[in-house]
Amino acid sequence: MMSEDRRLVAVVTGANRGIGKAIVRRLLLQTAKPMIIYLTARSVERGQQAFDDLRREQLRSAHTDNELRFHQLDVSDVATMQAFVEYLTLVHGELSVDILVNNAGGVVRSAAGDVVRTCDVDTAYRSVHLNYFSAVNVTSVMLPHVRPHGRVLFMATALAQLGIFSGDLPKVLVSDDLTLNGLHIIENGFVSSVGKGTFSSYGFPPMPFAVAKAGLIAYARMLARVLAHDSRDLVFAAVCPGYVKTDMTGPYAPLTPDQGAETPAYIALTDDTKRLKRHNGGLWKHLKPLKW
Ligand SMILES: NC(=O)c1ccc[n+]([C@@H]2O[C@H](COP(=O)([O-])OP(=O)(O)OC[C@H]3O[C@@H](n4cnc5c(N)ncnc54)[C@H](OP(=O)(O)O)[C@@H]3O)[C@@H](O)[C@H]2O)c1
Repeated sequence: MMSEDRRLVAVVTGANRGIGKAIVRRLLLQTAKPMIIYLTARSVERGQQAFDDLRREQLRSAHTDNELRFHQLDVSDVATMQAFVEYLTLVHGELSVDILVNNAGGVVRSAAGDVVRTCDVDTAYRSVHLNYFSAVNVTSVMLPHVRPHGRVLFMATALAQLGIFSGDLPKVLVSDDLTLNGLHIIENGFVSSVGKGTFSSYGFPPMPFAVAKAGLIAYARMLARVLAHDSRDLVFAAVCPGYVKTDMTGPYAPLTPDQGAETPAYIALTDDTKRLKRHNGGLWKHLKPLKW
């Protein structure tokens, strides 16, 4: 049954800390548009803690119109995605989401918790799955439920410039003939070629995080192209948050999580739809389109 509640519905993945939590804070406390924001996290305990923090902030502020909700969502677990979509459909109807921010992601850590900087097959596999396949899976499950004029965002990085690739890869990644299957083959090909030590001969750099995020940038472009005539008139964007001080980067990064959240929140909220559509599927940084 279609819900009568016409408030916008936003979903942010990996929102219990870092930039994701800061994006939720901006949506909750800065938008004048009536909105329900789903802060999602893989851990119920950590997600609930972030929810409690932001609710306290909201109660201290003048912005009490928007509604914050928590829902568990592990972006590496398709069953939790399906359960979440079923819940959203029940509560908001078949078309249930206006804004989807694919934020969950990051660096690979060792069992001791240190950031792994080597390019071995285990790191490549984990990085590609956390940063590329998880966001593609979440988007595939949610996309049929995105409402007209909806916006789908992917957190990328400026490290994932086309120039880090060589051979045919830069051309292939921006090709209008690139399919989702083709993109999966590229990302899986990176992992297996790292295992065989042949990745550089295929044009890949020894940078698992950047290769995975480049896949997301190509995916945003592809969605904009393939769905250009979809009657829902959707907007897709890949966003570089800048170098932001979070658990991912440590204390020396110059930007705060709130500054890192500025561009994704702008794309989620701006009324300048024409500007977003002009750069549909493009890469953004510091509130501006960035050439890829
Ligand atoms: N910080 C930067 O300078 C920077 C630069 C470029 C791009 N980015 C991108 O921006 C996004 C946010 O980065 P950040 O710096 O805020 O990272 P962060 O502080 O490490 O936070 C990562 C978030 O992702 C969540 N997450 C990890 N695996 C998940 C899963 N399977 N399911 C659901 N959530 C999961 C984490 O949850 P747990 O607490 O449960 O682990 C955490 O909430 C990431 O995609 C990152 O790659 C960041």
